Amino acid sequence: MGMRLLQITDTHLFSNGGETLLGLDTGASFQSVVDLACREFPAPDAVLATGDLAQDASLPAYRDLAAGLERIGAPVYWIPGNHDDQSVAAAALSDPFFRPERSFLLGRWQVVLLDSAVPGHVGGRVSERELERLERCLAAHPGHHALVTLHHQPVPVGSRWLDALGLDNAEALFGVLDRHANVRVLLWGHVHQEYRDRRGGLELISSPSTCLQFRPGSRDFSIDEAHPGFRWLELHDDGRFDTGVVRLREFVYIPDKGAVGY
Ligand SMILES: [Fe+2]
Repeated sequence: MGMRLLQITDTHLFSNGGETLLGLDTGASFQSVVDLACREFPAPDAVLATGDLAQDASLPAYRDLAAGLERIGAPVYWIPGNHDDQSVAAAALSDPFFRPERSFLLGRWQVVLLDSAVPGHVGGRVSERELERLERCLAAHPGHHALVTLHHQPVPVGSRWLDALGLDNAEALFGVLDRHANVRVLLWGHVHQEYRDRRGGLELISSPSTCLQFRPGSRDFSIDEAHPGFRWLELHDDGRFDTGVVRLREFVYIPDKGAVGY
């Protein structure tokens, strides 16, 4: 058996539990997804929380996130999304379960978390400093397979409105990744939907939110009826991996048809 990772993304929690995002109680759906993760994947090796952790960047929202993710009982590594405030999040997400490191080794794998959030902007960008750190991390462990994760999508996922809000400098990111054949997985959140493609030997993967889902292939903002969920990954020593998405089986939410944004 390989190393097991869970990706929990785009939780969009509020300071007041019970507050809703376009009619969806993000706190309740987050707790239900954590319950499901605990049942189906007990004792994973690590959790990746990949941004948009709070909708309102408030301390109580991050505290609720901490209380929920701690139930999984594994170290949690995190990155901010466009809705987050990094320093407020860091104040709430502390030891023993929350880890400040933005890279770590797990068996024969290295995981590198990149900050793509740009304060005041919905779209993302990986700074020169982050790109240099990525290069250093990958160069330091050429014998490890690598999984790289960030919040924003580095490739278009096929929705016009959402792809205008992706990663601004994806070429620069791929410029680094393409120099390292040991990078197997590039993983992100932000798009609130499952997506998978390949770029040479690199698998490009996105995952559902624990709350609202965006409809794949839509020109304009559109909510999908797919249920909230999370992604699991099992990383094998030889560089292969297995992955899948698990969604809540029972979930009642009537999408607000008139919504034009979130
Ligand atoms: Fe999000």
